[in-house]
Amino acid sequence: MSLYRSSIWFLKGLSEYTRSSFESAAKRFVEKDLDVSVAGRSFMITGASSGIGKAVATAIAKRGGTIHMVCRNKDKAEEARAEIVKETGNKEIYIHILDFTETRKVWEFAEAFKKKFRSLNVLINNAGSMLTQREVNTEGLEKNFACNTLAPYILTKSLVPLLEKSGDPRVIMVSSGIMLVKKLRIGDLQSQRGRFDGTMVYAQHKRQLVVMTEQLAKAHANIHFSVMHPGWVDTPAAEAMPDFYQSMKNKLRTPEQGADTVVWLAVSEASAAKPSGRFFQDRKMIPTHLPLAWTHSSLEQKERFMTLLEELAKASQPH
Ligand SMILES: NC(=O)c1ccc[n+]([C@@H]2O[C@H](COP(=O)([O-])OP(=O)(O)OC[C@H]3O[C@@H](n4cnc5c(N)ncnc54)[C@H](OP(=O)(O)O)[C@@H]3O)[C@@H](O)[C@H]2O)c1
Repeated sequence: MSLYRSSIWFLKGLSEYTRSSFESAAKRFVEKDLDVSVAGRSFMITGASSGIGKAVATAIAKRGGTIHMVCRNKDKAEEARAEIVKETGNKEIYIHILDFTETRKVWEFAEAFKKKFRSLNVLINNAGSMLTQREVNTEGLEKNFACNTLAPYILTKSLVPLLEKSGDPRVIMVSSGIMLVKKLRIGDLQSQRGRFDGTMVYAQHKRQLVVMTEQLAKAHANIHFSVMHPGWVDTPAAEAMPDFYQSMKNKLRTPEQGADTVVWLAVSEASAAKPSGRFFQDRKMIPTHLPLAWTHSSLEQKERFMTLLEELAKASQPH
């Protein structure tokens, strides 16, 4: 299928991602799935200071979980923590400051966390970046790639031993439906070729997250992996796309609606019973390609992608 036809399919799909589509999907949700206590379980949530991440942290804190908020802005994180504590009465909420574009620091953070904490049950890779200009970090990596793809990879790989020794371990990646218009591309991971289009670079990273999740699930059978699309949600990230925001603002989901499937994947028994490595929307497993799409990749390409990620991760690992 051509890029043009895929995009048309995708645009038709826009209606599936709105608030009203969430409300109709919610009619089939099983209410008791989220009627659980997760007291004694710990959850790391990246980008938890606003939007979907903050709504996820609040929903899990309400259910008694210990929360590790990993955020880059200390003031925003402290403000969000205070609001979550006030709303939920749960004080087991810890802030960790980290900028995911600083690749070496992601390693240092994860390795230190592993030494300090005895368990981590759930890792939620939620933080996402859409810089519109190409910028590189000190390792020479394009910053959106460092934040959207390499940071979740490093965090997950480094924390695997801790997750594996914790009960019912899960990893959840927050992707986006926009990845449906992208095929995995491994020849230009640093987006050096052609015109730099921040939205399409972001879409490529969200495809990479889907492939990464599928491959990590195969490599780590003791951990339950999933990746999801939250729908179109009214958050600062959506506002950062002015045309999109203007045309969609009355139809966007609330952060709580966007967070619903993440929370379901993180706490419910029903989600853990699903196969590992799959893509979800509105508590349902869905295909990772549009009908007749040209976006499929061979297993060889996917494995090559994972090898490249491992090489890039190793190159920035402190000794
Ligand atoms: N909103 C939507 O319609 C939509 C649709 C599909 C997918 N998503 C995905 O949902 C996830 C959450 O986004 P959101 O919509 O809730 O927007 P948001 O409120 O802007 O949340 C994004 C979070 O990522 C953090 N972040 C960005 N760059 C970072 C960096 N370099 N280091 C550390 N943290 C960084 C942000 O921190 P700061 O607060 O410091 O900026 C913020 O906490 C993202 O992965 C996004 O791609 C959103």
